Amino acid sequence: MATKKKVTAVKNTPKHLLGIQNLSVLEAKEILTEAKSFIKLNRGSSKKLDVLRGKTQINLFFEPSTRTQSSFDLAGKRLGADVMTMNMGNSALKKGETLIDTAMTLNAMHPDIIVIRHQDSGAPNLLSQKVNCTVINAGDGRREHPTQALLDALTIINRKGNIEGLKIAICGDILHSRVARSNIYLMNMLGAEVNVIAPKTLMPEGIDNLGVKSFTDMKKGLDGCDIVMMLRLQNERMQGSFLPSKREYYEFFGLTPEKLKFAKKDALLMHPGPMNRGVEIDTKLADDINVSLVKEQVELGVAVRMACLKLYCK
Ligand code: NCD
Repeated sequence: MATKKKVTAVKNTPKHLLGIQNLSVLEAKEILTEAKSFIKLNRGSSKKLDVLRGKTQINLFFEPSTRTQSSFDLAGKRLGADVMTMNMGNSALKKGETLIDTAMTLNAMHPDIIVIRHQDSGAPNLLSQKVNCTVINAGDGRREHPTQALLDALTIINRKGNIEGLKIAICGDILHSRVARSNIYLMNMLGAEVNVIAPKTLMPEGIDNLGVKSFTDMKKGLDGCDIVMMLRLQNERMQGSFLPSKREYYEFFGLTPEKLKFAKKDALLMHPGPMNRGVEIDTKLADDINVSLVKEQVELGVAVRMACLKLYCK
């Protein structure tokens, strides 16, 4: 007797952007190529597309954010999505609701995309297992911040033409930085050489296993670098004392015009923001349009987030 074949519906599993670590080179390059096409649109007078018309995007921010939150907000709106941004400081979480309860509540409203920033590493992964829509990580604890690394890559490509063969220094609070981790994965993947520079107390153990060279001396670490990426001291993630004083930190690790000279002559400076002027960076240098790419990073951030929303929400 012929056996009846059971026909099961193909489940349309949503795609998630949880980290650079889960990304292939091809996927990263596809996002960057797509993002390039949005740069011109964002500079024009008519910025609205209908790629995500009818889609609902929820931005779920459990940590304060200026750049990332507004960037995702604008990106979704420019693609025509209905965007709702929830500042979770005011939510039922304060009344004891867990992340999972919140996820189930929001899931019942049929969103198509949830963008999440959370203080706990792994929160976006957990969320992605509980909802039926695309989840995009906008920064989780000290783990990853994939769209920041992608916008940093796009900014470098826009200026230098390519990432392959460049020498990139990431300096500061490497230990607590999700930006550092995502950038290490991405820049390595795209063929750059990466140096990390930090005081011993802010250098994660075993960092060299990620394919970087580590330094505790700015002069040595910046030598021959094309890009100098500065990081904020993440005071909110520090329990206990990691540094003698901010003044001493600035003395040894703050980027000044003098220290920038250790890098290549045409080296460019980046910072994900928010900047602590006078702590990790000299205030004039931060605004020097001849070397600082900080504003360009913010600008291209919208293009990168548009690309991610478009490619991941299908
Ligand atoms: C970064 C973050 O939140 O991880 N900021 C950002 O997204 N632009 C870096 C930081 O807060 O220092």
